[in-house]
Amino acid sequence: MVNFLIFGPPGSGKGTQSVRLAEKFNLIHLSTGDMLRAEITAGTELGKKMSLIMSKGELVPDEVVIEMIAYKIDNSKGSAGFLFDGFPRTVAQTIALEKMLNVRGMKIDSMLVLDVDHDELVKRLIARAELSGRPDDKDPAVIENRIDVYKEKTEPIINYCREKGIYQPVKGMGTIEDIFKRLADQMKELI
Ligand code: AP5
Ligand code: MG
Repeated sequence: MVNFLIFGPPGSGKGTQSVRLAEKFNLIHLSTGDMLRAEITAGTELGKKMSLIMSKGELVPDEVVIEMIAYKIDNSKGSAGFLFDGFPRTVAQTIALEKMLNVRGMKIDSMLVLDVDHDELVKRLIARAELSGRPDDKDPAVIENRIDVYKEKTEPIINYCREKGIYQPVKGMGTIEDIFKRLADQMKELI
């Protein structure tokens, strides 16, 4: 199994690229954002509790997403590996993921970080708000907060992974197709 993190700020293209990459390389795409939104849509108790936090652009508690991911890892079979999208989001989540993978004889093999200019992120998310129905896309102040939360709580993971030698920056500006090719070229080296 080869396991990748697809990493980057809100609007950097993690979800867009993950769907294509998972298909190309037979990986299981695990997005904690999608899982949490599915809980909200299904009207579960967890969804109800998390929706306010998400609509403000804050992070949900580490233990909530760690438990979701552990369940998925144990219940997903027959792929070449995992593609984690939007998880981990804190150093604590990263350490938990490493432990989870290690006890199952796996590791994080690569962290692909999409580098996108601030103004482009905002432009993409505002454009998406019309279609996505995501409350966290509707308010420009929430978009800015999501980017700030990324810088403060999520970006420190880059240094953590750089020290482990798995950090791979990827230019995230340009067309979806061009970025896909850049990511796929990096991933091919490991698969
Ligand atoms: P999450 O769902 O992970 O959202 P996010 O990180 O804010 O990122 P997005 O999904 O908005 O962006 P993306 O990078 O996937 O870009 P996309 O491909 O969609 O998290 C949502 C919330 O859930 C969090 O705020 C938090 O509350 C909670 N949460 C989730 N995981 C958590 C965790 N692990 N811990 C704690 N809390 C957690 O692209 C964006 C748009 O741009 C799309 O419309 C797309 O079509 C377009 N686009 C993509 N690429 C291009 C391109 N090259 N050119 C033009 N447009 C493009
Ligand atoms: Mg996403």
